[in-house]
Amino acid sequence: MTAPRKTKLHVEELRQQIRYHDHLYHVLDDPELSDARYDRLLRELRKLESEHPDLITDDSPTQRVGAEPVKAFNQIHHRLPMLSLDNAFDEDELRNFDRRLRDRLKLDDSEKVEYAAEPKLDGLAVSILYQDGKLVRAATRGDGTTGEDVTHNIKTIHAIPLQLSGSKYPPLLDVRGEVFMPRAGFDEFNARARRNEEKEFINPRNAAAGSLRQLDPRITARRPLNIYFYGIGEISKGHSASTHEMGMQLLRQWGLKVSPELAVLSGVDQCLAYYAAIFEKRVSLPYDIDGVVFKVNSLDYQEMLGFVARAPRWAIAQKFPAEEETTIVKDVEFQVGRTGALTPVARLDPVFVGGVTVSNATLHNMDELQRKDVRIGDTVVVRRAGDVIPEIVSVIKKKRPGKSRKVRLPAKCPVCGSDVERPENEAVARCSGGLFCPAQRKEAIKHFASRRAMNIDGMGDKIVDQLVETGVVETVADLYKLTLENLSGLDRMAEKSAGNILNALEKSKQTKLARFLFALGIREVGEATALSLSAYFTDLDELMEADEEALMTVQDVGTVVASHVRTFFQQTHNKEIIDALLAAGIRWPVERKATPDDQLPLAGKTFVLTGTLNKLTRDQAKSRLHELGAKVSGSVSRKTDFVVAGENPGSKHKKALDMGVFVIDEEALLQLISK
Ligand code: IVH
Repeated sequence: MTAPRKTKLHVEELRQQIRYHDHLYHVLDDPELSDARYDRLLRELRKLESEHPDLITDDSPTQRVGAEPVKAFNQIHHRLPMLSLDNAFDEDELRNFDRRLRDRLKLDDSEKVEYAAEPKLDGLAVSILYQDGKLVRAATRGDGTTGEDVTHNIKTIHAIPLQLSGSKYPPLLDVRGEVFMPRAGFDEFNARARRNEEKEFINPRNAAAGSLRQLDPRITARRPLNIYFYGIGEISKGHSASTHEMGMQLLRQWGLKVSPELAVLSGVDQCLAYYAAIFEKRVSLPYDIDGVVFKVNSLDYQEMLGFVARAPRWAIAQKFPAEEETTIVKDVEFQVGRTGALTPVARLDPVFVGGVTVSNATLHNMDELQRKDVRIGDTVVVRRAGDVIPEIVSVIKKKRPGKSRKVRLPAKCPVCGSDVERPENEAVARCSGGLFCPAQRKEAIKHFASRRAMNIDGMGDKIVDQLVETGVVETVADLYKLTLENLSGLDRMAEKSAGNILNALEKSKQTKLARFLFALGIREVGEATALSLSAYFTDLDELMEADEEALMTVQDVGTVVASHVRTFFQQTHNKEIIDALLAAGIRWPVERKATPDDQLPLAGKTFVLTGTLNKLTRDQAKSRLHELGAKVSGSVSRKTDFVVAGENPGSKHKKALDMGVFVIDEEALLQLISK
């Protein structure tokens, strides 16, 4: 049965609307419609098409994902080859490129070449053929002459229109662009793969390539791929522009996505400025780029310049320094941190990566080391992006030598010889030596003196190292016993600097409770937690005596932090150090406390939350209860006034029932806190 004319028109109208909204959402990043309303349009179209299968066309928005996987990739011969680019690695090479062009074009010194510039995306090049506005075929670059047919996968990418917009598009258009996976999508994909113990991708480029090289388009459809078009291969006569930039404007008009960073520049100096600007911007872009591409803007000039081998003379890629390089692991050593954590650090054959020479890379912890299976002698990929500390991304297993050595966690601390402990189910191994361990002592003192802690100006790492090594300083309290002789006796220490340090020590005695707590280096007590603790307890004594339940009434303090705080303050040697610090004159102003005010409606009441809340998060509930003067505790006891049981409450709910504690549900909680 053929469909009535009215249905046919309606189907076409729905398709137009969906295309329009696809374009707004995926190409212009400027949606007008809610997801729900968009879905409704698509559902309506699907329904009509299933009732009238004769109306289905290849370019219908419902046809992005084909029903069946393809059997194999067909080879596609590019009618116009897909070229590669020459690279420039520094300013000189770019200037030489510009000079060569000007010589060839016989321009005199005052004439500047106009360039079109774009970021160089790190993905996979594709060529997409539109005939009469319809996407008919898509191929990978392959060797530049022949690629693979990936039409079924390309059609799943929403940023790529199945039908060009407007009416002035050419009958034939072969566009070239780079398919890529934005970093957020890549991270999400890998996080999920890790959870499911599936294989992760090494980088977004591999993820994009791997996703396009799927036989089953349903798999590709689930991958967050995107595209920017950067070139026109073939185009019907009479439709081409006169500059690259105008060509890109035409693509935009036809609904194809072009880099928003596209710029037209005059002369090589502007190119260098553009490079610097994009290099700066790089980290904030949501996708990976590995440089910028400069193309002679005039297509007449492009034609005059022509090609050498496989690359055009009229374009060049100025590459960023590589963020990843390979090198060899010479050894793995263990560093001991302030809390005694042992961090495996790989000693590497020095390698230039991310703009600096790297000879050490962290392996974070034993789990990480084992997961990556890094062995001494291995060839590894090292990454240093921006200012991030260098890390080992992966091992190149193929290059593993026969005599590679596995890394074992040392049984004794490499610094003090105490036993190394690694609690079951924990990634981190620790030296059990505590402050007996010089490494921990040094790091603890450096932390104590640091700017955001006690802010002791001039007490740098080198000085702390010497003070600890010579035995002058054993604990942070000893810092305040330092004399001019102690300090000026140190290596390369002038009397004046020694005096400055003494002044800084004196000055640091006037502090804030939050800083002091942070400076103590209690495990997992960062600045934010220190601030919460200091706001909650009237004084240090009260905090030092608080049990875990009391500690957990503080916002953001859970069982783990509470137990670290409690343990810390129970240890005699820590109490002695605190006494000594106070005796040395450390003081802070007493501030107004956020402890329950008698006037507040829930003053004196203790709540315990269990199960999942639907209308608000646990943190929201906690902070609202705090505002109203209540305490929120982590465990049910005789002191508990209310247990709030959300969905699937746990053992606390049962305990509350057993103990006869009042249990309320989320609704009742909302009523209590809304007043
Ligand atoms: S133009 C004839 N522009 O880089 C010149 N290429 O090394 C063709 N690429 O295969 C390339 N972003 O995959 C051009 N904005 C951009 C690019 C770009 C990434 C890739 C492309 C090409 C490779 C050449």
